Amino acid sequence: MIAACGQRVALIGIGSHVPERVMSNDEIATMVETSDEWIAQRTGIRERRIAAASDSSATLGAEAARRALESAGIDAGELDLIVTATASPDYYFPATASLIGQRIGAGEVAGYDLSAACTGFIYALAQAYSQIAAGLAETVLVVGTEVFSRLLDWSDRSTCILFGDGAGAVVLRRDDDRHGLRGFELGADGSGALLLSVAAAGHAADHDEGPFVRMNGPEVYKFATRVVVDSSLRSLEAAGLGVEDVDVFVPHQANRRIIDHAARRLGLDHARVFSNVDRYGNTSAGSIPICLDEAWRQGRIGPGDIVLMVGFGGGLAWGSCVMEWTKERP
Ligand code: UT7
Repeated sequence: MIAACGQRVALIGIGSHVPERVMSNDEIATMVETSDEWIAQRTGIRERRIAAASDSSATLGAEAARRALESAGIDAGELDLIVTATASPDYYFPATASLIGQRIGAGEVAGYDLSAACTGFIYALAQAYSQIAAGLAETVLVVGTEVFSRLLDWSDRSTCILFGDGAGAVVLRRDDDRHGLRGFELGADGSGALLLSVAAAGHAADHDEGPFVRMNGPEVYKFATRVVVDSSLRSLEAAGLGVEDVDVFVPHQANRRIIDHAARRLGLDHARVFSNVDRYGNTSAGSIPICLDEAWRQGRIGPGDIVLMVGFGGGLAWGSCVMEWTKERP
């Protein structure tokens, strides 16, 4: 799916939240045979955040949402819809969006969860845009939130080193003047679906995979390096822009080597690339909105900047979005 955004939709609020507990590579090395040096060299990750027992995708997501509403200067009651991207929901049902809506005091707001793993935030942005463009909603909260630490097999060194917990949220609103969201490209290749998976209750009963992340790292790596570049170019084309127009590149934070490879292939210099994978690891649907929030609060993104975001992962799905930043500086 490639689309130019014909309607005017602006980003008016942004926030994020990560748990306090930091888990270093050295700490993981006490659980499985690995080392800080191996993890840092192969992934760029130094540490990640781990949710407290009382945290959940809903509580982390609600805190990110509160911050996004605060930055937007609007009340939760003004929301028409909450779309939550998560692969680690509190429940199969109710939707995490319902739990977040209740926690932030959004009243009888519509809400649902969307399952597209690490591409979830980009898919959710496209959903929110579509609902606004179709006239079904005016103001939409999009939350990407994960507690992947509870989906990990902590004896599997090929996966447990990679992921972390956290949430990010944005508020989108129909706008008469500002043309924020500009273009999308979304895709998925189900032939690679089982290269990265977590089994759920509904999967075939005659093979037991266990409820943990299973991944063929090298194959997913090859997929990721290809789609990050291809999808970025397609959404830029949809938006009528080129790589030279991009002020800030915000890719999904899975592995620093994938990010560097994409930046090199796209011809984006280091100064235009935002990354925090060293501090949070891969927070799946949380990673892009957490980056956006940090980049905005650090002054790396400001009004008028062209932001290119790209996600990829389980599905195997991918998606990218080009946006002109419409939020004033903090
Ligand atoms: O958001 C979801 C998308 N996910 C991704 O984008 C992940 C994509 N994949 C990757 O980032 C990389 O494939 C990994 C970081 C997961 C692995 O890096 P790699 O360079 O592809 O390593 P590998 O799997 O080919 O393994 C190389 C060696 C193996 O040992 P031998 O067979 O060469 O002796 C592994 O057993 O490294 C070993 N190894 C480790 N050694 C120390 C694998 N994991 C570890 C570890 N510590 N944690």
